[in-house]
Amino acid sequence: MKPFCFAKDKIISSHEASCHPLDIGLIRGYAIFDFFRTVNYQGLFLEEYLERFTQSAKMAFLPLDFEKEALKEIITTLIEKNDHAKGGIRMLLTGGISPNHFLPAKGDLYIFCEPLQLPSEEKYARGVKLLSVDYVRPIPTIKTTNYTLPCLLSVDWKTAGAEDVLYHHQGVISESSRSNVFIVKDGIISTPKSNILLGITRRHTMELAREVQVRDIALKEVFEADEVFITSTTKRILPITQLDDQEIADGKVGSLTRSLMNQFEAMEKEEVMA
Ligand code: PDD
Repeated sequence: MKPFCFAKDKIISSHEASCHPLDIGLIRGYAIFDFFRTVNYQGLFLEEYLERFTQSAKMAFLPLDFEKEALKEIITTLIEKNDHAKGGIRMLLTGGISPNHFLPAKGDLYIFCEPLQLPSEEKYARGVKLLSVDYVRPIPTIKTTNYTLPCLLSVDWKTAGAEDVLYHHQGVISESSRSNVFIVKDGIISTPKSNILLGITRRHTMELAREVQVRDIALKEVFEADEVFITSTTKRILPITQLDDQEIADGKVGSLTRSLMNQFEAMEKEEVMA
């Protein structure tokens, strides 16, 4: 029964997928994943996500029995079987069942096709608010499933009218809970250098912007920026017009942000037509 997923070694109904409760993915929060979009039945920037997923597995000392080509075949089959023209695909590799319930072991691979809702037109038109939080994501270059803090905070950030958080530590920003961040000041675009996941949307945004300073950015600079935006697979480029209780510049979406948003959508269309 639809939807179908890949679980451990075969394609089954997603409703029947199961994971052992003693997998350290559950009892220690040790697992890796990745997430990409399908547009017109194609994985958008698929090669780059497969590369990051296999790198995450390697860096987390988790053996992955499937080469990139094998993963691609499974994904193609799932897209077909699920008639998954447009949506998200989640690849998950668990930490496995560890003899001491701690040491990374040999986990299971799961691949799911999921519906995906991009932010509303209103959010793109007006921008959204972030809340600053003093935090650095552990092992930030690996795409782990550890989102404990933002899951907890998300209960309250909705009541505060915020879309998400902005992490900073010792006065320096890193990223949002599931997105990278950019600021614009006097026409110069900058993005944080350290303690971040190397986002695929970030990389493409940097290509489009051509000149981007990759450096440590002070939290203070965000409050004083002309424009701020975040980038991610599930948001594309989303303008930030408020941080905590302060509007960014005049509180409106900036022209550079808007131009990059349009260019990104065009790039996406070209990519799926190629
Ligand atoms: N999040 N930083 C973190 C911590 C992330 O989890 C993500 C992605 C990004 C942006 O990366 P990309 O542009 O490759 O999506 C940055 C995904 C979308 C999620 O967890 O839903």
